[in-house]
Amino acid sequence: MPQPHLRTVVVLAAGEGKRMKSALPKVLHPLLGRTLLGHVLTAAAPLAADRTVVVVGHGAEQVRAHLTEIAPDAAPVLQAQQLGTGHAVRIALEAVPEAAGTVVVINGDVPLLRAETVAALVAAHEGEGAAATVLAAEVPDPTGLGRIVRGAAGRLEQIVEERDATPAQRALREINAGIYAFDAVRLRDALGKLSTDNDQGEEYLTDVFGLLVSAGEPVGVHVAADHVETLGCNDRVELAGLRRLLRDRVNEAWMRTGVSILDPETTWIDVTATVERDAVIDQNTQLRGTTVVGAQAVVGPDVTLIDTVVGPAATVLRSHAVGAEVGPGASVGPYAYLRPAARLAEKSKVGTFVEVKNSEVGPGAKVPHLSYVGDATIGAKANIGAATIFVNYDGVNKHRTVVGEAAFIGCDTSLIAPVEVGAGAYVAAGSAISQDVPPGALGVTRAPQRSIEGWVARKRAGTASAAAAERALAEGASADTPVAREGEAMHGDAETVGRPSAAGDTATE
Ligand code: UD1
Ligand code: MG
Repeated sequence: MPQPHLRTVVVLAAGEGKRMKSALPKVLHPLLGRTLLGHVLTAAAPLAADRTVVVVGHGAEQVRAHLTEIAPDAAPVLQAQQLGTGHAVRIALEAVPEAAGTVVVINGDVPLLRAETVAALVAAHEGEGAAATVLAAEVPDPTGLGRIVRGAAGRLEQIVEERDATPAQRALREINAGIYAFDAVRLRDALGKLSTDNDQGEEYLTDVFGLLVSAGEPVGVHVAADHVETLGCNDRVELAGLRRLLRDRVNEAWMRTGVSILDPETTWIDVTATVERDAVIDQNTQLRGTTVVGAQAVVGPDVTLIDTVVGPAATVLRSHAVGAEVGPGASVGPYAYLRPAARLAEKSKVGTFVEVKNSEVGPGAKVPHLSYVGDATIGAKANIGAATIFVNYDGVNKHRTVVGEAAFIGCDTSLIAPVEVGAGAYVAAGSAISQDVPPGALGVTRAPQRSIEGWVARKRAGTASAAAAERALAEGASADTPVAREGEAMHGDAETVGRPSAAGDTATE
């Protein structure tokens, strides 16, 4: 049985990342759901290290604050001056004098690194009993990277930085990925011997390898199967390239579990989101944060979901949702905006140009068109007519509105909170409701209509309206044209108001 190994993970994150040209430290730039640093820590997590040290420097306060959020067990160690990667590891180890066994060092800017690859590196290192093992990769373009220099027998001799390399060494395409496993004792010893005799005048961690080789210590090279994992990030162009690569990796993984992604190039799924089997993700869709899309749901085209749960068989079309819940079989959009704590129950509907915030829309309830629903509870099967506004804010406080089960709210209604419309109650179109409507009652606030005959002919003479009116009156058409009269068509939707026969029609057709 192999001995359990003590392990320490050291993440190097003190560099500025000059070429990012950013107020944000490089390692805090986001990439599909995690920061660069978050991705690296996630890749290291399965090592179950006894301790994780993150070397911070540039933007130390921001990086510390981020660590408190995402990895409270990781210990930040300050490297006040960035005197090189060797210096950074030396400072890290000084902060953990008890660290023994294996020390895994990872550059903070390699976000595509997989946990399996780190684990394989560490297993190879521990299996060989090596003093140090470096993760290497054959890359198409090694520009700017440290080269793996091997001797006649193919064994590693040293790692040379590009700026210190001979032309022959520069021609090598096997590079140092910036991920290493070391034996703690031998690492400490070698770090004490580093010089700054190089082009940058820095203490290079990579020089540890040459020192160990000279001392006759066994060092190893573990070659990554896929060089893409070792890609670093130095500027925003590279960051965008990494984002595309990660997008493809994530999309491919979901497709292999039975998710349909209709246009993988325009589908961006955070590594933290989840999609269940037989869901269909249509083009131009982003699933961000803790979003979950249920089985057989259809999401997209043109949808952004942030921290939103979509139930099985629900549909979300051309919409934006943040912190919302869409129940099983519910329908959202096109053009809906769901804000935090919008909770849509099973088979409910939130339609076109509807915004919902901090509200429950009950099972089978419908808010089909042009409405704002804020701080409301809408009962099962209630029907909210077009252009209903839940007036929740008095300028100082927010208030709740309750609409009972199977209540029917006519179009263009304001429900002025706090207010309650009882179960099965109706509200007439165009009403401003500020008092509770009892169950089964009709609530109506309506000024009587006046039609001032001949007004257009007198006040708008010479217009197209006047001419049309004149023709209509001459043809006697007015007699055949239905006109809304008081007491009729109070509740129909936008399409049906004006036709008496449609009074009481559903507002959702
Ligand atoms: C380093 C390696 C190079 C390798 C490359 C892979 C050295 C000397 N060279 O070069 O062989 O091919 O990574 O990407 O190690 N950092 C600190 N403190 C410092 C200096 C750096 O924390 O004083 C951190 C940086 O924030 C970064 C990481 O160490 O996360 C690597 O530093 P960077 O300057 O990017 O090294 P490279 O020149 O890329
Ligand atoms: Mg770098």
